[in-house]
Amino acid sequence: MDAKHLGDELSVVLHTEAELHARLAELAREIEADYADEPPLLVGVLKGAVMVMADLARELRFHAQMDWMAVSSYGAGTKSSGVVKILKDLDSDITDRDVLIVEDIIDSGLTLHWLKENLESRGARSVRICTMLRKPDAMKVDLEVAYNGFDIPVDFVVGYGLDYAEDYRNLRDVAILAPHVYGGEG
Ligand code: PRP
Repeated sequence: MDAKHLGDELSVVLHTEAELHARLAELAREIEADYADEPPLLVGVLKGAVMVMADLARELRFHAQMDWMAVSSYGAGTKSSGVVKILKDLDSDITDRDVLIVEDIIDSGLTLHWLKENLESRGARSVRICTMLRKPDAMKVDLEVAYNGFDIPVDFVVGYGLDYAEDYRNLRDVAILAPHVYGGEG
């Protein structure tokens, strides 16, 4: 689905599919150089990371093994609680492995902060983060992000895996959702 198929549901396209793919190619070259000795295990966080995982893994010029986790960041009622529950765990043993977490977006940073520590505690050799998008003005914790696609403003953003009520994940571009869709002001 392209932005043009959505009429007035989107305010503005922030990054087109072509821009996302071009930036991912740049990140892939950095990742290849950094992991020249041994490819990392790519760990995608469902569901939003499906698109970036599919594109990044195919762009990489080494064997990219993939595993998946599903986490809920609403443990204690609010997303900002930082309480994370594992809904689906890894299939792989990551002891002594280099792990690269693949995400669609880092918002408050709480989910990834928790996840990074969790994976480190399992004996991984290293745990780094790759995200397509980051909202610097929403960050609540100090989080080192090794590979970041684009910094974006604190708006309601959909597409390329990001949803509103489970819709818009299959939009090819990243766009700001029009406020009238979710009852916001604007
Ligand atoms: C999104 C995103 C991250 C998390 C980031 O997932 O994929 O996992 O939120 O937010 P944070 O930085 O504030 O912790 P979401 O919970 O929306 O689930 P989804 O991937 O299934 O859409």
